[in-house]
Amino acid sequence: SDSDPLQDFCVASDFFFSGLGIPLNTSNRNGVAVAPANVLTFPGLNTLGLSMNNVEFAPGGVNPPHSHPRATEAGVVIEGSVFVGFLTTNNTLFSKVIHAGEMFVVPRGLVHFQWNVGKGKARLITSFNSQLPGSAVLPSTLFGSMPEIPNAVLTKTFRTDDATVNNLKSKFAV
Ligand code: GLV
Ligand code: MN
Repeated sequence: SDSDPLQDFCVASDFFFSGLGIPLNTSNRNGVAVAPANVLTFPGLNTLGLSMNNVEFAPGGVNPPHSHPRATEAGVVIEGSVFVGFLTTNNTLFSKVIHAGEMFVVPRGLVHFQWNVGKGKARLITSFNSQLPGSAVLPSTLFGSMPEIPNAVLTKTFRTDDATVNNLKSKFAV
């Protein structure tokens, strides 16, 4: 979805990047780790209108609900079995467990997530039609922002109380 290129390629940059094959540490609360190959980590992508991620999951790991403001996403499972899903703007969930060699798409801007439902590790390669797709990660956007969203907004939004909102904020504070 990026604009059309004004030149053949970005003369200042290298055309290859070896950062998608480095094993990632998934020992974190979500059990997931992402290595992006976007224009910031791989400047050779400049003006080319695409980028990729390596996404690795511990058993049970979850890539939390997020959306990409500037790109449609296509992903392929390299290893394991992954429950992938996205939500339409009418809140219909499209989801499926997919396995190595199978791919999925996420239309631009829609909220989506992945969950490793296999016994072992899982790994995806995802790709985007933007050199910098951006990612709004819902839990950290809502509960880990700086400065914070006022509790009055979040208690009303989620029909809950201050204690619940404070508990969630404490988990996502940066
Ligand atoms: C997966 O959804 C990713 O954005 O890499
Ligand atoms: Mn994504």
